[in-house]
Amino acid sequence: MKIVICGKGGCGKSTVTSLLARSFVKNGFSVLVIDTDESNFGLHRQLGLDLPPDFMGYFGGKKAVGERMVRAAPNRGAVSFFDKPWTFADLPQAYLSGGDGVKLIAIGKIHEAGEGCACAMGMLAKQFIGNMRTNGNEVILTDTEAGIEHFGRGIEEHADAVLMVVDPSCESLKLAEKVAELSGSLGKPVYFVLNKVDGSNERYLRNTLGARHPVAAAIPADPSLALAGLRGDPVAGESAAVEDLSRVLRNSLAA
Ligand SMILES: Nc1ncnc2c1ncn2[C@@H]1O[C@H](COP(=O)(O)OP(=O)(O)OP(=O)(O)O)[C@@H](O)[C@H]1O
Ligand SMILES: [Mg+2]
Repeated sequence: MKIVICGKGGCGKSTVTSLLARSFVKNGFSVLVIDTDESNFGLHRQLGLDLPPDFMGYFGGKKAVGERMVRAAPNRGAVSFFDKPWTFADLPQAYLSGGDGVKLIAIGKIHEAGEGCACAMGMLAKQFIGNMRTNGNEVILTDTEAGIEHFGRGIEEHADAVLMVVDPSCESLKLAEKVAELSGSLGKPVYFVLNKVDGSNERYLRNTLGARHPVAAAIPADPSLALAGLRGDPVAGESAAVEDLSRVLRNSLAA
């Protein structure tokens, strides 16, 4: 099962990814979290793990990956970084953090001024997700950067579902419409997850999303999550809403 988590900046994508990862583990799953956000360095902390080395290093680093892309450009899309499908057992230990339960791979981060765009990361992430094979007890959660650039890069192409995190903002509601449209064009189901809600804004969000975009879960605004985020602590505790969400995903995607 492969799920891509998306949403506007700061809506809670990485928090929801971390909570879901823990919930899947609790329910007997092995979880691979793929960090495709080249700008933020926080997901590993939210998961309580070390930051792994850039996965691009396995293929020679960003420059080498970029050069292979450029060489292949005349035959668009012909460059391929994998010669056989991978299972969880094939993941290179040197580029993983975590262990039993949750494993984390970070495709690549921006480290230096002027190092160039992140196209190489996007292409590798898309191929990596497409190349992974999962069994019924494994899930891959891909955390994305804010916005919808990742749709342009094709990150969703090999996912089973898109999880759209919606915080109480007009921007999020607008983005939800766009994500529904983009996911629909790829034939991917979208699970809308409200985050940081209270009674009144939850009602407004549900009404605005309407029957066309049913809400799979609503996670309340939680001061302890906000404080953990501020301090850079791991996301801890259990959320009844996330447990419900994980059950919905397990039931509908395993079917
Ligand atoms: N339900 C919640 N209640 C309170 N605070 C929350 C909740 N969910 C997330 N936060 C806080 O909101 C902030 C942003 O969360 P997070 O980093 O998960 O968002 P993001 O969408 O991944 O951001 P980015 O776009 O920068 O990657 C963090 O400080 C986090 O602790
Ligand atoms: Mg994030």
